[in-house]
Amino acid sequence: MTKDLFGKALLDYQSGNYTEDIITSTNISEDDELPIPYLFRRFKEMPKLEQKALKLARGTILDVGCGAGSHTLYLQEKGFSVKAIDISEGAIAVAKKRGVKNAVLKSLLDETETFDTVLLLMNGTGIFQELSEVSKYLKHLKSLLKPDGQILIDSSDIKYMYEDDDGGLWIDTQANYYGELDYYLSYQGEDEIPMKWLYLDFETLNLACQSVGLKCKKILEGEHFDYLAQLALK
Ligand SMILES: C[S@@+](CC[C@H](N)C(=O)[O-])C[C@H]1O[C@@H](n2cnc3c(N)ncnc32)[C@H](O)[C@@H]1O
Repeated sequence: MTKDLFGKALLDYQSGNYTEDIITSTNISEDDELPIPYLFRRFKEMPKLEQKALKLARGTILDVGCGAGSHTLYLQEKGFSVKAIDISEGAIAVAKKRGVKNAVLKSLLDETETFDTVLLLMNGTGIFQELSEVSKYLKHLKSLLKPDGQILIDSSDIKYMYEDDDGGLWIDTQANYYGELDYYLSYQGEDEIPMKWLYLDFETLNLACQSVGLKCKKILEGEHFDYLAQLALK
């Protein structure tokens, strides 16, 4: 269980009580601000990878980890039927307040309907938490696809985060996969319970997809080792 500080920050912003941003850090990086307005972004303010994903979305859509519902709202305006799920109570309350018609407090692994498009955006692989869980999540995502369905997911190869000033890498090859991070978040001076958050490089995602019978295609590369992938049934 979390304290849902993320949801609290979204609720504060939505109700006009925006005073400060969320502070995040990881086991390999210092404090960083996550600007709350960014979670309320409109299409024009979204990274190219997300814009591309929204352009590729078709049919019935599931937005996994919808947060404040920004992607869902864009697609709803385009006339699509979208279901938005999140495990944050605050996020679901905000998504509803912003006009998301079908927002449900639910974890990805508890979803059972099928869709033409499943979206996982803003490091969509984060939800898988660790490398050993990837197959389980991919198998479940596969079960949510209609016959011609697609999964659109973004992530990054974060190897660059292990580079020192002279370009050398300090990855410990005995340790777990380098994209597995411990993720810390605080808001208004209160610390959230630490979470695990997974970044997956494309080749590792591709291999995991193959092992569960999914096709995996890189659709677009971003500006900083990030990418958008499209997964589909073979
Ligand atoms: C980085 S935020 C991205 C929010 C939104 N997609 C965006 O781009 O603004 C990740 C979201 O995933 C949600 N989440 C984490 N684990 C989840 C799970 N197992 N099932 C559904 N949502 C989850 C979090 O509560 C959070 O709202």
